[in-house]
Amino acid sequence: MSGDPEPEVRRLAEGAPLPDWVTRLDRQTFGEAWRGLAAHEALWVIPELAFARWSRVPAAGEAELLRIAVASEARGQGLGRAVLEACQRELAGEGLVHLFLEVRPTNLAAIRLYERCGWEPCGCRPRYYSDGEDALLFQRGGGAQG
Ligand SMILES: CC(C)(COP(=O)(O)OP(=O)(O)OC[C@H]1O[C@@H](n2cnc3c(N)ncnc32)[C@H](O)[C@@H]1OP(=O)(O)O)[C@@H](O)C(=O)NCCC(=O)NCCS
Repeated sequence: MSGDPEPEVRRLAEGAPLPDWVTRLDRQTFGEAWRGLAAHEALWVIPELAFARWSRVPAAGEAELLRIAVASEARGQGLGRAVLEACQRELAGEGLVHLFLEVRPTNLAAIRLYERCGWEPCGCRPRYYSDGEDALLFQRGGGAQG
């Protein structure tokens, strides 16, 4: 994206309804769309193009990346990285520095993105997904200890 302006990443206000395009992209990407945000969740978006949904545990300084998606026609242009880095910065500003996620070992695009954003593998959950595929666990900020 050299020469392109940084994409604008926004945080959805607490209690705001999910934009329709998020529900659409969620369904297109994952086959089913999750409902509105629970009180402990947070969502960052690049409007119409990308979103990242987190679950937050402020008392523990932890957050889990639940879902991240970029519209298929906009992938490979740095938007995934832009939205993830913005989330990480804002979560760190709230003291949420121990970050976790699960990912399919076959999802090489996502794994590459996480590695580029400073995440490290820290374990495996056998047969985690409903189709029997294992999940790799990744962490950022040394969150797996203790
Ligand atoms: C995973 C996903 C969010 C990445 O978003 P993106 O905008 O395409 O990623 P970026 O352009 O920011 O690229 C980030 C890094 O990943 C790499 N990457 C992106 N797509 C890749 C692919 N298909 N294969 C290998 N590496 C890939 C990029 O090269 C870049 O690494 P680099 O800086 O070393 O070049 C996007 O592919 C997506 O929405 N996938 C479907 C949903 C999904 O699987 N989400 C994760 C599980 S919740």
